[in-house]
Amino acid sequence: MSRRGPNPAQAGRRWRRPAALLLSAGLLAFTAAVPADFVPFVRPAGWPKPAYELRRNPQTPAGFALGRALFYDPILSRDYSTSCASCHSPATAFTHADHRTSHGVEGRIGRRNAPTLQNLAWTPAFHWDGGVNNLEVQAVNPLTHPSEMDFTLDGALARLRAAPAYRARFAQAFGDSAVTGQRLLKALAQFTVSLQSYNSRYDQVMRHEPGAAFSEPELQGLALFRQHCASCHQEPLFTTNGFANNGLAPDPYLRDPGRAGITLQPADSFQFRIPTLRNIEFSGPYMHDGRFRTLGQVLRHYTAGGIRASATLAPQLRQPPAFTAAEQRALLLFLFTLTDKQFLQDPRLNYVPEAAAAPAAGP
Ligand code: HEC
Ligand code: HEC
Repeated sequence: MSRRGPNPAQAGRRWRRPAALLLSAGLLAFTAAVPADFVPFVRPAGWPKPAYELRRNPQTPAGFALGRALFYDPILSRDYSTSCASCHSPATAFTHADHRTSHGVEGRIGRRNAPTLQNLAWTPAFHWDGGVNNLEVQAVNPLTHPSEMDFTLDGALARLRAAPAYRARFAQAFGDSAVTGQRLLKALAQFTVSLQSYNSRYDQVMRHEPGAAFSEPELQGLALFRQHCASCHQEPLFTTNGFANNGLAPDPYLRDPGRAGITLQPADSFQFRIPTLRNIEFSGPYMHDGRFRTLGQVLRHYTAGGIRASATLAPQLRQPPAFTAAEQRALLLFLFTLTDKQFLQDPRLNYVPEAAAAPAAGP
């Protein structure tokens, strides 16, 4: 993995008043100064109540910075090859660009496309099948999964305990240098809960910010979107966080039953979690198996003819819309307004710690 962007830890001595920062997003929260490289979680005005209880894992700048260091550090994988960021990279809203399904240690190929990581505090159930219901616990899954990081929690903790820099970071974050599994998971969550996108042009228009407006085709796209897509991809998160079968033919190789693999209910067959569409311009390939390379292909799927009928097909898609080429273009232009450059290029979320630059020879 290569070193990306400026190292905010080194720039972190500068302190900024957060008021200017947050006011620019139309939000007011803190009065105390925060370090320039800390991204505190915020609840944007008008958004629903988050599912994640942040008060049980209160963020601190040091906890966030530790979580970020861990997220970008391949020390958490058995062979020091793979970090969380290997599959969740910032420029693509924290998904695995160009990979149909994810690749882990020794190039092992996973079963599913890595989802974007955005606005996770609102997600009540994670993964394409909703099989994990807690953000903190979720991280155990990639850490131990044979085709992801293929390691053990104890193995990772032993390495971190042997690294003086990490012991110091744990002490800064939690008051003493004990490196425990719970602290590791809490620190990771303090970082991932701050992967928030709410500053796309769509958001600016919705907040009536000066100069922010939709073009005529974008407005047409929004109207089509609200009519045909928003029942599942509901604003402002662009997902209801529910599950649905959107008419993909089952992949003959992956044979992924989706939600039914968790609930064992035939009624849930081929239902998958409805993904957010924020930053969709950059998060391809698309769907749980990454079958579509472009958004054009996705829109052709949703246009009459692409959708495969089956017993569990969502009722809304039983009479699929017949979008004209101009309507598909309008939808596409609307989807592009969900791109949030501020989030995709935020240097505070994009960081390669020292330990990743020079991995120690490990067990
Ligand atoms: C080898 C690639 C890979 C690595 C490494 C990886 N992930 Fe993932 N991640 C995935 C895939 C694939 C999924 C979807 C799994 C599924 O649906 O079964 C996922 C899902 C997630 C989710 C749930 C997102 C959602 O909306 O459902 C979170 C959170 C997450 N990963 C965080 C992490 C963290 C933290 C790490 C490092 C400890 C990590 N991932 C390492 C590939 C990876
Ligand atoms: C009945 C609910 C439903 C409706 C209506 C719906 N979708 Fe989806 N959408 C889903 C589900 C579920 C998935 C994930 C399916 C999978 O991977 O198996 C999805 C996936 C997508 C993806 C891929 C996202 C990613 O990160 O891979 C895009 C893009 C998308 N939908 C756009 C649209 C558009 C545009 C419309 C309207 C024309 C629409 N959807 C209507 C449920 C729906």
